[in-house]
Amino acid sequence: MSAAIGSLCLSASAFAQVDAEEVFKENDCHKCHHATKAKKGPSLEKIAARFKTENLGTDEAIKHMTSGGKVKLTDGTEEDHKIIDSKDPQVLNAVAKWMLDR
Ligand code: HEC
Repeated sequence: MSAAIGSLCLSASAFAQVDAEEVFKENDCHKCHHATKAKKGPSLEKIAARFKTENLGTDEAIKHMTSGGKVKLTDGTEEDHKIIDSKDPQVLNAVAKWMLDR
């Protein structure tokens, strides 16, 4: 968690080059994660709030979007979570920060 805070300064300059929202859309993440409304997955607002309450950082979010474990959808079914189509730490960091920065 402290590592996430430490890397903020380092990666800040990268954000200008990565359009996190665009990556999020290209990966169909928005089909399950709306900014404020629950869809098949929790809203970004809800995820960000939980991460704040539980003191989780971008590392945790990146782990989730790259490891693809089973998740329970709001309709009660289970499926493997989508794995983001990038291994570039700058992209992953930008998307994680964009998701949690609300
Ligand atoms: C098929 C629907 C679906 C798609 C597509 C999807 N997600 Fe999710 N996602 C979920 C569900 C459901 C959860 C809640 C998991 C839980 O709470 O157990 C979740 C949770 C998360 C979390 C929070 C993890 C946590 O620990 O609470 C992150 C971060 C996340 N998704 C990122 C992404 C990204 C980035 C993409 C696109 C690459 C994406 N999701 C695409 C359904 C989806």
